[in-house]
Order: sequence, then structure tokens, then C-alpha cells
Amino acid sequence: MTNRQLATSAVAAAVGVLVAVAGVAGRTDLAVGGLGLLLAGVLVMLIDIRRRQGDIARRVRQVARRQALDSKRIGWLRSMPKNVKKEVKTALRPAVTSLGDTVDRAVGHIQAAGDGVSAGLAQERLAAAERHVRLTDDLGALAAGVSDVRADLGGVRTGVDDVRADLDGVRAGITEAKDGIVARIDESDQDDKRRQVSLRGQVSKLAYEPVRQIQALLQLVNRYDARAPLPPTGGWAMEPSTILHLVRMVEQTRPGLIVECGSGASSVWLAYAAEAYGGRLVSLEHDERFAEQTRQLLHEHGLTANTDVRSAPLTELKLGQETFQWYDTAAVGELDGIGLLLVDGPPRASGPRARYPAVPVLGPKLSVGARVVIDDVDRTEEQEAAEAWLAEFPGLEREGSSADRSATLIYRPA
Ligand SMILES: C[S@@+](CC[C@H](N)C(=O)[O-])C[C@H]1O[C@@H](n2cnc3c(N)ncnc32)[C@H](O)[C@@H]1O
Repeated sequence: MTNRQLATSAVAAAVGVLVAVAGVAGRTDLAVGGLGLLLAGVLVMLIDIRRRQGDIARRVRQVARRQALDSKRIGWLRSMPKNVKKEVKTALRPAVTSLGDTVDRAVGHIQAAGDGVSAGLAQERLAAAERHVRLTDDLGALAAGVSDVRADLGGVRTGVDDVRADLDGVRAGITEAKDGIVARIDESDQDDKRRQVSLRGQVSKLAYEPVRQIQALLQLVNRYDARAPLPPTGGWAMEPSTILHLVRMVEQTRPGLIVECGSGASSVWLAYAAEAYGGRLVSLEHDERFAEQTRQLLHEHGLTANTDVRSAPLTELKLGQETFQWYDTAAVGELDGIGLLLVDGPPRASGPRARYPAVPVLGPKLSVGARVVIDDVDRTEEQEAAEAWLAEFPGLEREGSSADRSATLIYRPA
């Protein structure tokens, strides 16, 4: 019995007890009321039982339905393996197919995506390669640009160096010009000094020089029996003192061949000196008029046998880098064994260093012990010519101090 039934039975028992007590006690109203309550309670219980029966019947039906359904299901379940397979197959095929398609599509997508990625990668690689090429080109261009800039800088540097070199050249030129000017000033100072000394000397000489020259001339005249009037000396011609120095030298050294550059009065005296021992004189003359005049003079003195006045016009002569105006060398071609070379021409007016070529041309024809006498060494140009010969021609030495206006060199080869 449930708690509810126990409670209901207890209430019904209590009400019955009440009815019984009321009946006993004569309380009809309470008894009737109690009875009515009991009846009502019974009615309610009947209705409840009825409702419960209905519920149970419904439940039974439901259970039966369920059982029937379950039986059906059991039967279905029993037949299921076959059907299931079939149905699964049937049901799954489209799904599998669909799944396959989906997978294929997915694979397709993946492939497409892969292809896309590959294409993208390839494109990216291509683009990267192009970028690399462009970058390389740019770098090459940059390097070329840098090289160009370097080359330009080099050019600029070279330009700067050139300008520097030019400036150095200009500076050197200025220095050279300045030195030249200073040297010229010094030179001109020295020339002035030399001129002053020379003038002083000439002035002081005036007191005794004419007498000295007369004495020298007297010695010359007394030396030889002149066969005709003697030509004037001094001025354009050599001074008697120089001629005396020369003839003494000829008498002492007896040169077989005397060569004279510049004919005139000296030619007569040299010819007389050479005639005494059988020597020969060749006189080079650039001016045909004076050549003829000297020939006539020698003829008058009966000195043609041992003399030869050669017409030798001044022609261009190249010695090293310098060009001179000197006697035509055809006139001296065969001359050899010169014992005395007298340099008294060409005239200074014929060009700079006019007398310098004498030794370069005739030096190789000098005999051992030969003398070279150059006149007019009171002039700078003749002094320089003598210095140049001494420096350039091995074997030439200065002999004694300058006599009068001449200087004597001796050829003593090693
Ligand atoms: C410095 S002179 C000396 C010539 C010669 N050695 C002498 O002492 O008589 C040089 C030149 O003067 C020229 N000359 C020669 N006889 C001359 C004369 N009677 N008057 C002017 N010049 C003359 C010749 O051209 C000669 O080459």
C-alpha cells in the first residue's frame, strides 16, 4: 500500500469512527455529515480508481503498441544485415561517388591550387629573376656609372695634373726667362766690364802700342826681303805684332801646310815665312773680290808657287743641331796634314759663332803638334770659340798665354 492509500484509509477510518461516535452520541447531523463525507470520499476514490484504470489500460495499449513496434523493429533488425548492406551500398554509393567527386574536385582544387601556386611560384621566380636581371643591370649601370665617374675623376685629375704641369711649365718658363734676363744682365754687365777693361787697356796702350807695332813691323821688314810694296797691317788686317808672332812660330815649327781662314796682308807674310823652308800656304777666301786682290798681292811678291788662295763662298753648314755660314767645304776636301791653322775669318757679320766651324771641319786634318791660332780673342765670340774647341776636340791644349789679340792652341793627341 502506498503512502497515499494509507493516508486515505486513515482519513476514512477517522471519519467512520466520527460517524460511529456521533451516531452513538445521538448526533445525527454529525453522523449524517460524516457519512456524506465518507460517501464523497468513496466517490472520489472510485473516480480516481476509474481514472487510474483508464491510465493503466492506455499504458497497456501503449506497451502493446510498443511491443508490436519492437517486434517489427526486431524483425527489421534481423533482416537488416542484408538490407543494410544493400541499402548502405545503395545509399552510400551516391555518397561515395559524391565523396569521390568531392575528393576529385578537392584534389582538382588542390592541384589547381598547386598549379596556381607553382605558376605563381614560377611567375614569382620569373619576376624575381627579372628583378635580379634588372638589379644586375642596374648594378652594372651603377658600376659603369661609378667607373665613368672614376674615369671622369681620373680625367679631371689628369686635367688638374696637366694644368699643374702647364703651371709648372709656365713657372719654369718664367724662372728660365728670369734667369735668362738676369744672365743677360750679368752678361751685359760683364760685356760692359770687359769693354771698359779693353777700352782702358787700349787707352793705356795708346801710349806705347803704336811704337810696339812699329817695332814689330820693323822686325818683319828686316826678316824678309820684300819683293814688292807691303800691304797695310792693323785695322781689317792683323796687327804687325800678331803677324810677327805667327812668322816666328812658322820659322820654329816649319809646318808643311799652313791653312788660313780669311786672306789678306797676313797671307803675304806667311807665304814669305813658308817660302824660306819650302812650306805651303792655302788661304780660304769667301769674297771673290778679296780673293783676287790677295792673289794679285802674292803674285806681286812672287809668292804664287807656294800659295793657293781658294775661293770658298760661305754656305750653310750643319754641325749637330746648329747651322752656320762657313766656307764651302768642297774647298778643303783634299787638305791633310795641316801644321798651322790660322782662323781669321769668316767676318763676324756673316753670322753667329762665325769662326767656330774651323776646328770641327779642319781639326781632323791637323798633324800631330799642329798649332791653331785664332785672332781677335779680345772679342767674346772668338774667346768662346776657342773654349769650345778645347772642350770638344780631344788633344787640343792651350799654348802659352794669348799673344796680343790672338790665342794659340797646340794639338797633342794622346
Ligand atoms: C779679318 S780680315 C783678315 C784677313 C787676313 N787674315 C789679314 O790679316 O790680312 C778678314 C776678311 O777681310 C777681307 N779683306 C781682305 N782684304 C781686305 C782689304 N784689303 N780690305 C778690306 N777687307 C779685306 C777678306 O774678306 C777677309 O776674309
